[in-house]
Amino acid sequence: MIRVAAVGDLHVGPDIRGHYRERLTGIADRADLLLVAGDLTRHGTIAEGHIAAEELRGIGVPVITVLGNHDYHSDVELEIAQVLSAAGVTVLEGTGTVVQCNGTRVGVAGGKGFGGGFAGRSASDFGEPEMKAFVGYTKTFAARLRASLMSLDADVRICLTHYSPVKDTLAGEPPEIYPFLGSYLLAEAIDQSDVDLAVHGHAHKGTEKGVTPGGVRVRNVALPVIQQAYAVYGLVREEAGEPAAERR
Ligand SMILES: [Fe+2]
Ligand SMILES: [Fe+2]
Repeated sequence: MIRVAAVGDLHVGPDIRGHYRERLTGIADRADLLLVAGDLTRHGTIAEGHIAAEELRGIGVPVITVLGNHDYHSDVELEIAQVLSAAGVTVLEGTGTVVQCNGTRVGVAGGKGFGGGFAGRSASDFGEPEMKAFVGYTKTFAARLRASLMSLDADVRICLTHYSPVKDTLAGEPPEIYPFLGSYLLAEAIDQSDVDLAVHGHAHKGTEKGVTPGGVRVRNVALPVIQQAYAVYGLVREEAGEPAAERR
């Protein structure tokens, strides 16, 4: 059994320096890896990136993260990713990684993702160049996500994004802003890629549990949603070729 710890939307600032790290004490006894679903910072500054890096450095389990929209706000997302990498945190953006956990190869692929909305209520790449750019960004990301998920040489596959692949986990947010919280294109990529678990953040007022149209479990791990330092999901590969089961 693989124990996947996950959290999103840390939104660190100088006032909480060291506080989140304290809450991670003993995580190695409870989980095999930690996934961070973006929005590590408040305003995406390099200073906040350093604070996030120090919260996550050397906690005793591999840490894999994606950035969120807040981490892009000051146009230094690449520098923030470098700061996190230097602290030993793996940062994904349309890419994947495989970690060994108790003899099981756990593959994680992901990236920030983007919005656009959900089937029947989604934006389309029609008309103005700005609309084409908006939807085109998500389409391009979804294609990269699918490719990186499919190329994982792993026993268990996890999709990690900031934006949501489904609307189930947005329940609690105003429906008017769903198109800014996720896109069905991410769920399509997940459903085409033999994924066992999809994790996201961003929807602070959303709901923890959902499922893609193809039956993949989706978990919104934004801190205000899970209301604990991290949630832990158990993944079990029962038999070769059988879907992994999940236990809380
Ligand atoms: Fe957030
Ligand atoms: Fe966000």
